[in-house]
Amino acid sequence: MSTESVAVEDLTLEDAAAELERLAKALAHHDALYHGKDAPEISDAEYDALKRRNEEIEARFPELIRADSPSRKVGAAPSAIFQQITHARPMLSLDNVFSDEDVRDFISSVYRFLGLLPDNSIAFTAEPKIDGLSMSLRYENGRLVSAATRGDGTTGENVTANIRTIKEIPQTLPSDAPAVVEVRGEVYMAKSDFLALNEQMAAEGKQTYVNPRNTAAGSLRQLDPTITASRKLKFFAYAWGEISEMPADTQFGMVEVFKRWSFPVNPLMQRLSSIEAILDHYNDIGLKRPDLNYDIDGVVYKVDRLDLQQRLGFRSRSPRWATAHKFPAEQAFTTVENIDIQVGRTGALTPVARLTPVTVGGVVVTNATLHNADYIEGIGNSGERIREEEHDIRIGDTVIVQRAGDVIPQVLDVVMEKRPATAERYPFPKICPVCGSHAVRERNEKSGKLDSVTRCTGGFVCRAQAVEHLKHFVSRNAFDIEGLGSKQIDFFFEAEDPALSIKTAPDIFTLEKRQSGSPLTKLENIDGFGKVSVRKLYDAINDRRQVALHRLIYALGIRHVGETTAKLLARSYGSYAAFSEAMKAAADTSSEAWSDLNTIDGIGEVVARAIIEFYKEPRNIDVVSRLLEQVTPLDAEAPVSSSSPVAGKTVVFTGSLEKMTRDEAKAMAERLGAKVAGSVSKKTDLLVAGPGAGSKLEKARELGVETTDEDGWFVLIGG
Ligand code: IVH
Repeated sequence: MSTESVAVEDLTLEDAAAELERLAKALAHHDALYHGKDAPEISDAEYDALKRRNEEIEARFPELIRADSPSRKVGAAPSAIFQQITHARPMLSLDNVFSDEDVRDFISSVYRFLGLLPDNSIAFTAEPKIDGLSMSLRYENGRLVSAATRGDGTTGENVTANIRTIKEIPQTLPSDAPAVVEVRGEVYMAKSDFLALNEQMAAEGKQTYVNPRNTAAGSLRQLDPTITASRKLKFFAYAWGEISEMPADTQFGMVEVFKRWSFPVNPLMQRLSSIEAILDHYNDIGLKRPDLNYDIDGVVYKVDRLDLQQRLGFRSRSPRWATAHKFPAEQAFTTVENIDIQVGRTGALTPVARLTPVTVGGVVVTNATLHNADYIEGIGNSGERIREEEHDIRIGDTVIVQRAGDVIPQVLDVVMEKRPATAERYPFPKICPVCGSHAVRERNEKSGKLDSVTRCTGGFVCRAQAVEHLKHFVSRNAFDIEGLGSKQIDFFFEAEDPALSIKTAPDIFTLEKRQSGSPLTKLENIDGFGKVSVRKLYDAINDRRQVALHRLIYALGIRHVGETTAKLLARSYGSYAAFSEAMKAAADTSSEAWSDLNTIDGIGEVVARAIIEFYKEPRNIDVVSRLLEQVTPLDAEAPVSSSSPVAGKTVVFTGSLEKMTRDEAKAMAERLGAKVAGSVSKKTDLLVAGPGAGSKLEKARELGVETTDEDGWFVLIGG
């Protein structure tokens, strides 16, 4: 790991999981203080930063979202009372980049995806990234009909009444506007209005607010719109959702149209083509930042032409055609008071530095991940030095910590002059602090190098692993069982009474039946559970007796099988029976099942091995078969675009494609509901062969697989 790598993008899965766990605990603690005792320990800004950090990590690792995730809980305001609105088109987030180099990579990736030479022919817009709240405003027949917050990106809160009080937002559109228009942008509070509000609060002897973003959020969440009205919120339009008829064909053009429709748009937006001009503009905006009357935290770049945006499309949560270039990190000095070890679901031992609290860029930092044993020593993931020799991190050391945006703090370096004489090298544990099993660093079979992660070998014996496994099982993208959060899982796992104990996933589904014994051990008579909440819990459990196949596969907690891979597997095998049979057969790596598994585009050998290893373990087979006595996995859904002629078909692209890049071809085929495979087999339905196609074309002919060229492909899909 390099020293600038402080972005969410750079977190390993293990780090991310460990951090999400800590965030869940910390936020629950602060919630309790705030709501229960009205005695918060941290400022709103700090709280907000923790929450946002949690969201960012979850956006990057959706498979790690915990059942007790703070993002699933209602925040400071009683937001449950706002109605939910499902966005006509999802509200996505942006990828972040931090250096000039990253910006070059982003721009090259755009050219590469489109199969163009980097010749400055593609224009990008560059505009400030406003630090506010994103909002979707829906107009039908020229009238504002609803306004929704981003929420989880799919559904947000209906805050229409409050939005109507914002003077800058038009209630009606000109008569030439399309019948349906969703204008999206950022609601924010001007710095001057924020300061004035705080002066007034102070004068009235009331508690002052911490920052404009938070105050804007709080102001929008008021049930009484007159309060929102008094807060003078503002808006910048920069994006859109559903539109019945596009009024322009570039990003820049769209924003000009918004301006014509009387929406405020940001005056610093420019259309630029060269990387130099883009970086100059970034620096320029950085220089202007202190004088702007609103907070910004970076510059957003977007491909200008909308047809190119369409071709580039989206990754799971963010567009390929845009990125946010964040302003640099902030640093501070503090001391390492202790180093703790956390054990995750896969047994990874993650060291965490407990720091003397220090404010970095307005946020109090108390913990920093130390990633793994090498990181403590000053060695990066590829074996490179990331700090000078001797600069290993020790308890008692004074260190430099860094935060970039709201990402997790990193320990950058050690101040050697301040190292106490007594400070000793940190002895990385050789046994698991939770279960006492040996903790080892595995050796990568191919490279022969030691893995950077130290793992507990206790498996199911290790309480930490077993508990984390259960928490994963009930988490949002797995079985999603409401009411079974981290605390409840801890309780049931520890429970000794057989009527209450949950040690493995199937036990969740037998809990209700096991309640017939003594009233003393009945769940509803136990402190913290009431009759109503117990009924709700059973209902939530029973609701999941039928479950989507990909959720089941994801819930199994197979190493390297995240949500995306689980979906791929579900789509490829269709039913759980077909999947598990194939995985058992694939244990023989000379079998057809093994080669089929490896043919799935997006499944590499590491993942394939992890899956067959899972199915070789009798204990796993036993747990799954007990689980299947309780739940019924639903067969994978039909492909999204079932009307397309390639929906459900397995397609292979080969040879040099001339009209589209390989990535683009793959994205296009998948959008149309096809599966894209990397090699030809009996299961291939169509081979698209460009010039120079060789062995794959031959094999397809041998097997009698239909083949076509690029033109044929476009004719077939009607493009
Ligand atoms: S474009 C598909 N432009 O940043 C992406 N977003 O990290 C649409 N934001 O949720 C977003 N200023 O709330 C865009 N000029 C800008 C922005 C901006 C702030 C926020 C927005 C979004 C978040 C993504």
